[in-house]
Amino acid sequence: MTPLVSFPGGNRVMAWILLLLQSAACLQTGNSAGSNKLNAFGVNQPARLSGVQGSSMEIPFSFYFPWELAEDPQMRILWRWKIFHGDYIYNSSSGFIHEHFKNRLILNWTQPQTSGVLRILDLKTKDQTTYFCKIMLNTREGKKSWQSIAGTQLIISSAIRTTMQSPSIITSAVTTAARENTENRWHSYLVNLGATVGVVVAKAVFITPVCVLMVFLWRSKGKWSRTGLT
Ligand SMILES: *[C@@H]1O[C@H](CO)[C@@H](O)[C@H](O)[C@H]1NC(C)=O
Ligand SMILES: *[C@@H]1O[C@H](CO)[C@@H](O)[C@H](O)[C@H]1NC(C)=O
Repeated sequence: MTPLVSFPGGNRVMAWILLLLQSAACLQTGNSAGSNKLNAFGVNQPARLSGVQGSSMEIPFSFYFPWELAEDPQMRILWRWKIFHGDYIYNSSSGFIHEHFKNRLILNWTQPQTSGVLRILDLKTKDQTTYFCKIMLNTREGKKSWQSIAGTQLIISSAIRTTMQSPSIITSAVTTAARENTENRWHSYLVNLGATVGVVVAKAVFITPVCVLMVFLWRSKGKWSRTGLT
């Protein structure tokens, strides 16, 4: 770094570059520290499951968190469907079950377990969508709640097996379902990854001009060296 500081008018420019580089480095460190330590909570669910119409199926889930539980943790499990901010279909503390799933939902979980299973009985074709598990509990630092970002995508296949069906009809049904689910995912991503995109954009805005300046200065330095200015 020393020879760079010595060229004419270079001091202020170099100071700015160092400042910018430092800011960019801070953004980088802050981001990775966040995902490693501060965000050490989450919900695990399978990405995709399939079931047969009329039968039952299970969505396993487990969760983890970095906080110490309060004396009365009041752990709750809630389930939403369709999209990240979709309607609640199950509330373990009130026993609420969405009308669409009347007598068809069973949660196999008891406090303070950190894993369990949601069982859906008598599967309907309209059950084909995404399911998100949400956790609420009291810690020594206060109430905390978090939810699976991607959820579990359920594919319900028809129970008809003996009847021959045109393959094209089946294919189009599957394609439509896939598109719907992609839209739901998009929504979740837009809602949740906004912050990440912000950091990436900030990094690009910082780093690009810094790199351009560095290249420019290195080339200038080479020129000045050859003319004996250093
Ligand atoms: C779940 O049930 C509890 C107890 O009735 C209630 O206080 C809470 O608001 C419910 N949560 C949701 C998201 O409906
Ligand atoms: C609940 O889950 C436990 C462990 O996964 C299992 O042993 C038990 O049989 C389940 N109970 C019901 C009612 O499904």
